[in-house]
Amino acid sequence: MKPSRATRLTLFGFALLLLAPSPAARSERAPLYLDAGLPPDVRVEDLLPRLTVEEKVRMLGGTGFTTQPVERLGIPAFRMSDASVGSRNDGPTTAYPASVALAAAFNADLAVRVGTALGHDARARGVHILLGPGVDLYRAPFGGRNFEYLGEDPVLAGQTAAGFIRGLQGQGVAATIKHYAANDQEFDRHRLSSDLDERTLRELSVRQFEIAVREGGPKAVMTSYNPVNGVPMSQNSALVNGVLKGEWNFRGLVMSDWDSCYDTLGMMLGGLDLEMPNPQFYRPELVQRLLDSGRVPTAVLDEKIRRQLRVGFELGWFDRPQADPGIPRDDPASAAVALAAAREGIVLLKNDGAVLPLDPARVRRLAVLGANADHPITGGGGSSFATPFPGHALSVVDALRQQAATPDAVAFVPAWAADAEAPAAVREADAVIVCVGFDTPGVNAPNRGALGEHEGGDRQYALPPGQEELIRAAAAANPRVIVVLNAGGSVATEGWIDRTAGLLHLFYPGQEGTKALAEIVFGRTNPSGRLPFTWEKRWEDAAAYGHYPSKETPRSNDYAEGLLLGYRWFDARGLEPRFPFGFGLGYTQFELTDLTALAAGVGETTTVKVQGHPVRREDRAKSVELTVQVRNTGPVPGAEVVQVYVETPPVATSPAPRPPRELKAFAKVFLQPGETRTVTLSIPAADLAVWDVTGHAWTLPRGRHVFLAGEHSRRLPLRAGLEL
Ligand code: BGC
Repeated sequence: MKPSRATRLTLFGFALLLLAPSPAARSERAPLYLDAGLPPDVRVEDLLPRLTVEEKVRMLGGTGFTTQPVERLGIPAFRMSDASVGSRNDGPTTAYPASVALAAAFNADLAVRVGTALGHDARARGVHILLGPGVDLYRAPFGGRNFEYLGEDPVLAGQTAAGFIRGLQGQGVAATIKHYAANDQEFDRHRLSSDLDERTLRELSVRQFEIAVREGGPKAVMTSYNPVNGVPMSQNSALVNGVLKGEWNFRGLVMSDWDSCYDTLGMMLGGLDLEMPNPQFYRPELVQRLLDSGRVPTAVLDEKIRRQLRVGFELGWFDRPQADPGIPRDDPASAAVALAAAREGIVLLKNDGAVLPLDPARVRRLAVLGANADHPITGGGGSSFATPFPGHALSVVDALRQQAATPDAVAFVPAWAADAEAPAAVREADAVIVCVGFDTPGVNAPNRGALGEHEGGDRQYALPPGQEELIRAAAAANPRVIVVLNAGGSVATEGWIDRTAGLLHLFYPGQEGTKALAEIVFGRTNPSGRLPFTWEKRWEDAAAYGHYPSKETPRSNDYAEGLLLGYRWFDARGLEPRFPFGFGLGYTQFELTDLTALAAGVGETTTVKVQGHPVRREDRAKSVELTVQVRNTGPVPGAEVVQVYVETPPVATSPAPRPPRELKAFAKVFLQPGETRTVTLSIPAADLAVWDVTGHAWTLPRGRHVFLAGEHSRRLPLRAGLEL
C-alpha cells in the first residue's frame, strides 16, 4: 500500500530533521543545498529560507528568455529557448520535422530519440528550459499552430509528447508543455475564449496534457493566450491549482505565455509561478503590496519559488554548467535523428497504379513544379521556426537531383500561362511532382507571394492562389502527377484530388525532410507515416464547422462538437472522410491477426481527496494488455502501425453523444518481408475512464469494453471484448 500524502509529508519532515545539521555545524560547513548528493526536496527546503522576500518576489518575473538569478546564493539564471523543432534562440541549429509530422510517425520511441537529440542541441547552447512540446489539439485545418501540435487525438498526442519529454529531460533540459489549455486557434488569440463543457475539456482538450504529465513528467507548463470559459489561463485557479497541480500532482513550474498576464492577485492565487518574459503584473511593488496587506500569504510566494528551485535541483543545474562544449552545435548525430524522423513522418496518402516508388534507373525525365519546389521549406512560421546551418536544407528539386541516376533527369519547370499548352518537359516526363502548400513567412518572404502558415494567425483552407490550377494543368498533360504538400493539416482537395495519381503529405519536414522525400520517391525508404488528423472531403463535413472562429463568426468559439472531434464526429455521423485518421500507405502490405485482450486487475475504484473534492481514480498499475500478430506479406521491408480503439459501454453519468470508438493504444513495428511479430500494447485503466458529469470525476464504465485493432480508424477488422 502506498503511504498517504500526510504520512509522506511527515516522513519527509522527519528526514529533513535528521539530515539538517545543528545551527553551529551549519555555519562551518557548506550549505546543504550545495550538496549534490542530497535529494532535491531537501536542498530546496534548505535554500528557500535563505532567500529574502525581495529576492523571492524578483524571481517571479523573467528577464527576457531567462529566470532571475540570485548571485549571492549561487542561483543561476535558467536560460530558455523555443521550441519543439529546434533549440533556436542561439542562431542556427538542427531543425527537426514539425511536431505534427512527429505525431504522424505514430512512434513514441522515435519521439524519445527526437527529444534526446534536441536535449543535446540545447546542452550545446547552455539552454536549461526548452519551450516545447506544444500539445494542443488539432480542431480545424485553419489553426495557425497545428504544425506545432500533435494532431487531433489526445492519446496519440499525449504519448508522443511523453516520449519527447523523457528524451529531452534525460539530457538535463526541462520540457515545457504548452499551451495550457485549449489553444486550438490563432484567430484573435489573446482575447477569444475557448468555451467548452467540463467533459470535453477533461476527455479531449486537456487529456493529452494529463497523459504527458503522468507519463513524461515535464518540469514546466506554459499557459495559453486564450482564456478558457472566459477566465485567462494565467489566473485560472480551477485549471492550474485544481486540475494541473492538484489532481495531476504536477510539481513543476507554471509560466505564462509571453505577455498574457492581467491581474496580480489573480495570478498569485491562481497558480502562476512565473510571469514571462518580464514582470509586468509581478512587478515587485505590486506583489509586495499584496503580501503586506495579507491578501496573499507568504506561503503562496514560497510555493512558487520552491517549484522554480526544485526544477533546477532535479535537473542538476546547480551542480554543473548547463553548456556542454563537447557537443557540436551542428551535430551530425542530431541531423541523423532529424532525417530518421522525417522518414517516418511523411505520409503517403494516395498511390494510384503504384505510381510510386519511381525506379531511379528507369526514370529519365522527372518534372518538378510548383511554388514549393525550388527552395527549402523546413518549418512553419513563428516562434518555433529553427534556422538550419547552411548546407543542410535542400529544395525538393535539389534533393531529387542528388538521388536520381543523373542530376539532369530532374527538371524544374516554372509555371506556364493558364491558357497555354503544358511544356514538353511536363507532357513527356516519366512522372511529374507538383510541390504545393504553404510557406514560411519571414523566412522565404520573397517567395512570389506564396501564403504562409504561422503562429499568430489562422490560414486559409484552399491552397494558395494558382496552385490548384497548376495541379490541374499538369494532370491534363500527364497522368503520372504526384502532389507533394507542405501544410500543418488538411487543405481543400475537391478541385484536384481525383486527377492526380499520388499525394504525399510532407507537413514541414525539417532540415533533412526533402532528403527523406527523395528516398521515398525513389523507393529507398518505405513510407510509414499515418495521418494524425481526419482529412475531410469538404470543410463543411468537419466537426467544428460552423463554430470554429473566423472573421465571419468572430465571437463564437464554442466547442459545440463536444466529444465528437475529428474522427469521432465522422464515425458518429457515418461520414466518409477524404482520408481517415490513422491512415497512410506504404510499399508493402501487412496482415493483422489474433487479437487478444487481458485485463490486468482493472475495475477497482479508489476514492482520494484532492483539495477537498473527492475524486475517483483508477489505480494506475492496472491495465488492459493486448497482443496482435503482424505479418509483412509484401515484397519490401516496412513498418506497420497497429492501432487499438475501444468501444466503451454506455455510462448513465456520461450520456450520449459519446464517440463510437476512440484510439487507446498504438505501436509501430518494423518487419522484413515474410516476417511475423507479436505486437504487445498496454492501455492504462485510467485511459479507459470517462468523465462523469454528475459526480465531476473519472469513472471506469462497467460492462463490456470492445477493443478493435487494425490499420487505421476506418479499418479495424479485429475485435476482442472484455467485461470490466
Ligand atoms: C508563443 C510561445 C513562445 C513564446 C516565446 C509566444 O508568443 O506563444 O509559444 O514560447 O512566444 O517565444
